[in-house]
Parts: sequence; C-alpha cells; structure tokens
Amino acid sequence: MKISFGPPAIPRSGALVVGVLQDRVLQPMAERVDKATGGSLKRAMSAGRFKGERGQSIVVLTPHGIGASRVVLLGLGKPDSFDALAAQNAGGKVVADLAHSGEKAVAIAIDPPKGAKIGGAALAAEIAYGARLRSYRFDKYRTKEKPDQKPSLDAVTVMCAGAAEAGRAYAPRARVADGVYFTRDLVSEPANVIYPETFAREARKLARLGVKIDVLDRRQMARLGMGALLGVAQGSAHEARLVVLRWNGAPRARDKRPIAFLGKGVTFDSGGLSIKPAGGMEDMKWDMAGAGVVVGLMMALAGRKAKVNAVGVCGLVENLPSATAQRPGDVVRTMSGQTIEVINTDAEGRLVLADAMWYCQERYNPKVLIDLATLTGAIIIALGHEQAGLFANDDELAARMIAAGLATGEPVWRMPLGEAYDRDINSDIADMKNVGSGRGAGSITAAQLLGRFIKPGVKWAHLDIAGVTWSKKDTPTVPKGGTAFGVRLLDRLVAEHYEG
Ligand code: BES
Ligand code: MN
Ligand code: ZN
Repeated sequence: MKISFGPPAIPRSGALVVGVLQDRVLQPMAERVDKATGGSLKRAMSAGRFKGERGQSIVVLTPHGIGASRVVLLGLGKPDSFDALAAQNAGGKVVADLAHSGEKAVAIAIDPPKGAKIGGAALAAEIAYGARLRSYRFDKYRTKEKPDQKPSLDAVTVMCAGAAEAGRAYAPRARVADGVYFTRDLVSEPANVIYPETFAREARKLARLGVKIDVLDRRQMARLGMGALLGVAQGSAHEARLVVLRWNGAPRARDKRPIAFLGKGVTFDSGGLSIKPAGGMEDMKWDMAGAGVVVGLMMALAGRKAKVNAVGVCGLVENLPSATAQRPGDVVRTMSGQTIEVINTDAEGRLVLADAMWYCQERYNPKVLIDLATLTGAIIIALGHEQAGLFANDDELAARMIAAGLATGEPVWRMPLGEAYDRDINSDIADMKNVGSGRGAGSITAAQLLGRFIKPGVKWAHLDIAGVTWSKKDTPTVPKGGTAFGVRLLDRLVAEHYEG
C-alpha cells in the first residue's frame, strides 16, 4: 500500500472519505462535499441508520457535482474519546471498506474533531498508520486468485493542513509497521518453510538496518550446556538454533546494560511423545510467535533508530516425536546447572526459554528481561483472545507494560506469581519438573518455572501470548491471522521508558 500525505482538497477521481461525528454532525470537509453534491450526503444519511457512531460507515456512489467516484461517510463517534487508537482504527476501517471495492486510490479528509485527544499532523499520521497496519495480506501461496479477487486499493492519501509534518510524524510509525509485517510473515509461514535454520536466515535480514546478528548452532549450545533446549529439539531432523540480535542505539548511555527481549521459537509443536490431538494441531506452526515478535520488534527499533541498547534472543527448536525424541521422565540439565524432570514433552516452551534466558543474562547482563511465549493453553482459558497474560517480578515494570498495552491496543492482564505455586513444580528426583502436579493454574506454574531462571536483581516480565497471537476475526487494524501482538506494545514501552 502506497501511503502519502497531501493538503485537503476534493479529489477529481477515486474514493473520498469524510468524517461524521456522533448524531450525524458533518465535519467541515463533509459539509463542503455535501454542498458540492447538492446535499447528497445528508440525504444518504437520512435514508438509513447511520448515526456517525465510531466504526459505522456508509458509501455514496458517484455523487453528482464532484469527480470522486464515491464518498465514504466515516463515523467518528464522540470527539472527547477520540484518541490515537481511534484514529488508527479509522484508517484501518477505510482500508477494510475499500480494499476489494474496485477503487484503486482513496483520499482521507478527516478534520481534527474539536475537543478530541488528537489533532493536526499527529492525527493524520495515526490514520495512515492504521491504514498501513490493516493493509497486511499473506497471499504468497494463493496461485489461483483472479485479478478481481485481489485487493484493488493500492494508494491512500491522508489529507491534512501540515502534510510535511504529518509525513515526519508517520515515518517512525511506518518503521514499527514494517516490524509488524515482518513478524506476521514469520508467524504465517508454515513449518515446512520456517524451521530454526530458515528462521535464522530471515532474522539475518536485519543486518541491513545495523542490527548485529549471532546464530548459535547445536554444537555451540551443547558446549554451553543447554540440555533443556536441546532436549526438546532432539526429536526433529531440523537442528536447533539460538538467534541473538543486538541494536546499540545508545552507545553513550550512562547505564549501558541493555534491555533484553526473549522469544519462544518452537517452529512446530506437535507435543513430542506426549503428542497433541490431531484437531487444530496445524495451529502449532505459530508456536514460534514469541521469537517472531522479538525479530519484528528489533526491526522496528533499528528501523526508527531508537536510542536504546536492546538485545533480542530467539530460542528455536522443533518439537517432534521420533526414535530420538526425549521421553516423559527424562531429566535434563540446563545451562544454569539446575535439572528438570520432563513429565510432559508438550510443556516444551519453558524448557527452551530456561536455557535461552540463562544465556541471555550470562552473556549480556540485561537490566530488564522481557520474554514472550505462546506458552500455555491455560492462558486462553483464563483470558480468552482479548488480552495477553502478564507476569512480572517488578511492580513498576508491570505498570509500564499495562499502560503501553492500553495505549497501543495490545492489552495485557497481570497474573500472580508466588511461593505456593512455585512449590507445585518441585520434583522428587530433580530440581524441578516441567508441569505442575494438579490441573489448576497451568499458566502460573509455567511462569514459575521461568522465574527460577532469572538472576537476582534482574527485572523480569513474561507475556503469555498463546491467546492473542493468531486471530480468527478481523479487527480494524489487524486482519485475521498472525497479529504480531507484542511488537507495538514493546516498541511503545521502549519509547516511553528506555530511550534517551
Ligand atoms: N504451545 C503450547 C501452548 C498453546 C496451546 C499455545 C494452544 C497456543 C494454543 C504449549 O507448548 C503447550 O503445549 N502447553 C501445554 C502445557 C501442558 C502440557 C502442561 C498446554 O497448554 O496444554
Ligand atoms: Mn507444547
Ligand atoms: Zn508449545
């Protein structure tokens, strides 16, 4: 999608979008168009139920008196609650409405609503950002799509008085959208295409942005003693990899310790010998989304030249059953020295993360470590597909993440950690076992295991994104499929608290 900015004007062709506030209050540009078309817009409104509510829209086709082939009246709702997210949703809604309409170009002429929380160039930039986010499509494997089934829309112009300023405000957001796209691509690819080695190859593309990349192979990880991560990988013909991405955007910072992001990258999770049922197993191609988000986030940070020192670590394995697979009951030794009894080979994400987390801390001494993982089905039972589960050993970090989540439309809900839960993963023959003893609190016992691999003094947060990584329905800025949940939240967290 080509996205640009220009001064407000009624275009001579293509689609035009104008804004309508709650109770059919036309914005100035909408008034102008209504006059130019002999009152067509008001007539169209009174012919139906359109009230100008946020998320509503109606279309007037080929109105007399102007060159534009259609006018979309976009409901903006009440101005006092119109904020950056509402602006993004407006941009996304326009793309959703027109993508398959036959229109090639759309001009969006939404005036800053009086009393809104956003206006001017920032408003235009957020509308453009929403349009870009919603334009994502993963269609590389559709070979039989007819031209008239493909999206027609390929250009969005957001009109605003300070077009140049809007372009400057949009630039960093566009780099975040690049990261979101990259993550969505990785998550959408099937597991015969993306496995540890090919994931690492994709991650290397970030070199052109100035990101430093190291890839550890099986032998290097074996030498480091990563028995838990390698135990998961040993059933697959695809070898494990550990990808480390470094962006040093603040070389002269007083505290040079980085903020670290760590992702579960199980490129396919069959469950291993504790095999999953066949129904829905194909979803487990996206069990690498935590790692995918880490790569997309690093792309966003480097792309917009964030003034931060950040490290991204991806633990990459494929979890398959075979003659070489690990068995229930096996005991593995982690890089930290702690041992884990593998009761259930399907609780593999925590095994991968345990070694990746330890390596990350030993090697990079981060002040903050945030991991993302499609870790448990239990978090879907608790929170559904609306919010991710947040676990943290630090209240300030948790509060910052909750705020960043609300601001970006990627909400997270804090879950508890505690000693009683921790006791539940004690093992009779090893330091711990990889599942709790009962059936309850599965997301918490998983988080407790991760917590045992955090060194004292390290601020740590864990996001269980199992319920929010893949969406079965469209939302205004996220088409169904891979969501890249976490990229926007963590980019915002960095921008607000860890830059400069
Ligand atoms: N990758 C799954 C969790 C998952 C389930 C993600 C559904 C997305 C959708 C994870 O590796 C897993 O299998 N967890 C088990 C843990 C159990 C064996 C203790 C689960 O949640 O059932
Ligand atoms: Mn599993
Ligand atoms: Zn898994």
